[in-house]
Amino acid sequence: MSGKIRKAVIPAAGLGTRMLPATKTIPKELLPLVDRPILQYIVEEAVASGITEIILITSAGKSAMDNYFRQKPELEEKLRAMGREADAERVRRTWEMANFTFVQQDEQKGLGHAVWCARDAVGDEPFGVLLGDDVMYGGYPVLRQLTDAWEEYGLPAVATQAVDDEHIVKYSSLKMEPLKGRVMRVTDMNEKPTLEEKFSNYAILGRYVLTPEIFEILERTPPGRNNEIQLTDGLRELTLKSGMLGVEFEGRRYDTGNPCDYVETFAEYALRDAETGPGFRAWIMRKAEELREEKG
Ligand code: UTP
Repeated sequence: MSGKIRKAVIPAAGLGTRMLPATKTIPKELLPLVDRPILQYIVEEAVASGITEIILITSAGKSAMDNYFRQKPELEEKLRAMGREADAERVRRTWEMANFTFVQQDEQKGLGHAVWCARDAVGDEPFGVLLGDDVMYGGYPVLRQLTDAWEEYGLPAVATQAVDDEHIVKYSSLKMEPLKGRVMRVTDMNEKPTLEEKFSNYAILGRYVLTPEIFEILERTPPGRNNEIQLTDGLRELTLKSGMLGVEFEGRRYDTGNPCDYVETFAEYALRDAETGPGFRAWIMRKAEELREEKG
């Protein structure tokens, strides 16, 4: 299979239990990083990677996500009437960035099942996957690094970086052989391995390029860990069948799905934002001084 990647699936139908009680009514993917929800950064990365069609996997209780990417002409008009052209443009950008399709996952049966829900919307072409709670910080879009590898080798790909032992047991560990530069050939993988079982400290981190073969595989993948259909089980079969690339991406990945990492991610974006950065940096310095004094 070959061809440009036009479509991307963003699974965002999970329950977000680690962020309760906020996620009782606000999807964790809509929590803000400074002025934009997490999900918008992810869509922006997809668009910067050449994606024009976004397929958002959502669930019954998360209609705020669909709403966010729909047109709000009255709000734009009001802002324009108030002379707030720049704000109107910011609102416009949220729905104009790409074409959005919303697919409901009726039951939270795992990430593998969420991706499988996109089968009709994707059809018979290669596609990207971006997890709805992982943001990537860096210049060159991470999904683009994967689609570049796809264009060169015509193989599906996963984004990877080495993580420490404490984290590899929570992710999927990759067995890989060198290919060229940052691109490696994946030969095997396992999900949430023990330290004895891990293939390496290279973990799959939140971005994928897949072929539609994955749908037929996921259709018959039985539930694995936690009784959920695990994407890694499907990816392993795809790897053994058609081959897979591991792209050691440039950039920094932030998990926003638990309180501690969410706070760090927020602080990182607030520090780098042109508007909030200077004031926030000054506050952090004062706070650090205060904490040092308290300790001393
Ligand atoms: P997570 O496992 O981090 O999300 O899935 P979760 O299940 O919402 O988290 P907790 O453990 O309850 O706090 C990674 C991404 O996959 C989506 C999630 O919305 C998240 O963006 N996902 C997960 C689905 O779309 N469907 C699922 O059944 C599971």
